[in-house]
Amino acid sequence: MTKIAIFASGSGSNAENIVRYFKAHSSVSVALILTNNADAYVLERARKLHIPSVVFSKKEMNEGDSVLKLLKENNIAWVILAGFLLKIPDNIIAAYSDRILNIHPALLPKYGGKGMYGSRVHEAVVASGEEESGITIHYVNAHYDKGQILFQTACRVLPTDSADDVASKVHALEYEYFPKVIDEVIASKKR
Ligand code: GRF
Repeated sequence: MTKIAIFASGSGSNAENIVRYFKAHSSVSVALILTNNADAYVLERARKLHIPSVVFSKKEMNEGDSVLKLLKENNIAWVILAGFLLKIPDNIIAAYSDRILNIHPALLPKYGGKGMYGSRVHEAVVASGEEESGITIHYVNAHYDKGQILFQTACRVLPTDSADDVASKVHALEYEYFPKVIDEVIASKKR
């Protein structure tokens, strides 16, 4: 069984969607949900979904190997970032080279980089008068949102759309495509 760990910092709707997608999967399962935020709603989602969860501090992740050791102890093969707001430290990047995926709620390279997350992204898209937005799924390397892009798909942005309207359209794409792309990428690495 290929085991996945999901990192999330907030609500965790993508994490829940991924867990549900792999619930009945024959060879991939979500084994662990990790967060840097003890108040993150993703912890409640993990509890209801019966997925073990771990809270760690930014300091614990960035100093020493405790988070990396936890991943290895749980035989984690893939790390999925789903609304995780911290930069992944080099030790985890090195141990999981081309095995960490992130989803960004815009069409990178536009509207990416440090500080561009959540509603800030959609507000910037609307403020710029863009006619489309979308999602980007990419490998994670040592630089924010700069890893090899694996998948992108777009949605229309109407002049009357608010940032919340764009967020809803982007979330719909995330829920439809992120689990499928994870499934396909893992299968492709097995061949
Ligand atoms: C999503 O929009 C995702 O693209 C971005 O952070 C948001 C997380 O939302 N990385 P949720 O916590 O999965 O509801």
